[in-house]
Amino acid sequence: MTRVFSGVKPTGHLTLGNYLGAMRQWAAVDQHRADALFCIVDLHALTVDHDPARVRRLSRQAATLLLAAGLDPALCTVFVQSHVDEHARLSYVLECVATDGEMRRMIQYKEKAARERERGGSVRLSLLTYPVLMAADILVYGTDEVPVGDDQAQHVELTRDLAVRFNQRYGHTFVVPKATLPAVAARVMNLQDPTSKMGKSDDSGPGIVYLLDEPDVVRKKVMRAVTDSGREIVYDREERPGVTNLLEILAACTGGNPEALSGAYESYGSLKKDTAEAVVELLRPVQERHRALCADPGYVEGVLRDGAERARALARPTVDAAYRAIGLLPAG
Ligand code: TYM
Repeated sequence: MTRVFSGVKPTGHLTLGNYLGAMRQWAAVDQHRADALFCIVDLHALTVDHDPARVRRLSRQAATLLLAAGLDPALCTVFVQSHVDEHARLSYVLECVATDGEMRRMIQYKEKAARERERGGSVRLSLLTYPVLMAADILVYGTDEVPVGDDQAQHVELTRDLAVRFNQRYGHTFVVPKATLPAVAARVMNLQDPTSKMGKSDDSGPGIVYLLDEPDVVRKKVMRAVTDSGREIVYDREERPGVTNLLEILAACTGGNPEALSGAYESYGSLKKDTAEAVVELLRPVQERHRALCADPGYVEGVLRDGAERARALARPTVDAAYRAIGLLPAG
């Protein structure tokens, strides 16, 4: 059976981008067709300046939202990264096949490091090695497919490179995975700045739709979305990023085709109104289930406990094999 792994980082409240780019596919498709694991990757949240209590809170919230989005523990495994030591253990071994040049070429590293420096902060070493830990997350489960949004594609490419390199040098140990991207909304853009990604750790609140935003807040954010100069509704990522983003969001919510939808609208006003309502309807059931799950925290905890136990059992043999292959003496 195909093995699927993906993760979400608890560095902010989850967004419409996370949902359309990744979580929705996990729930609607991946958990039904594959042996799928979905992880709250809390170790990754420590790579930038963070508040410990907030990371803990966001981890719990992310787990609750994954279940609210439809992940079913009877069909897939949901767990927290730090509950499974094997990720960190494998990460170290992979650091021994990765190069520092490779790490410094990663787009997200360059962007995030620049942002940290702009704020006058220092760049944590773990931010540089982040993609290696991500590779470990994926490789430790013998993953075939990694369903992610477009922004993670480069990291999955690196994971493939590390797997191939390790296998060639030390003998076949890892499955070489590939990224799978959604056909529409692989990169949902910020409503206030449609040339940059809608990211949960950004500061620009009005441009980001959060999964737990109240319907009126969603409406306000979508109605105030920045559009482009030029009045006609045209699907063109380069020239008309604002309107194209709205078309993509609407298409992703309603199952339509963004280019075809562009012909159906004559004004920004009606496009925004329909998009706002489509997003409100998309989020409604997720928010309802989230409310119900919040009333039963013991259930979520139980899911995470069982998930970690299953994940550990799957991860252990891969780490043992990698340790042996690279030359470490078995503990006996
Ligand atoms: P993270 O937490 O930033 O995002 C979680 C998932 O949501 C997707 N995504 C988006 N898709 C479309 N449009 C957007 N605006 C948008 N914003 C986020 C991301 O592509 C991702 O699929 N490094 C990863 C977490 C991670 C991981 C892994 C993922 C750690 N280890 C192993 C897969 C496999 C991250 O920061 O995702």
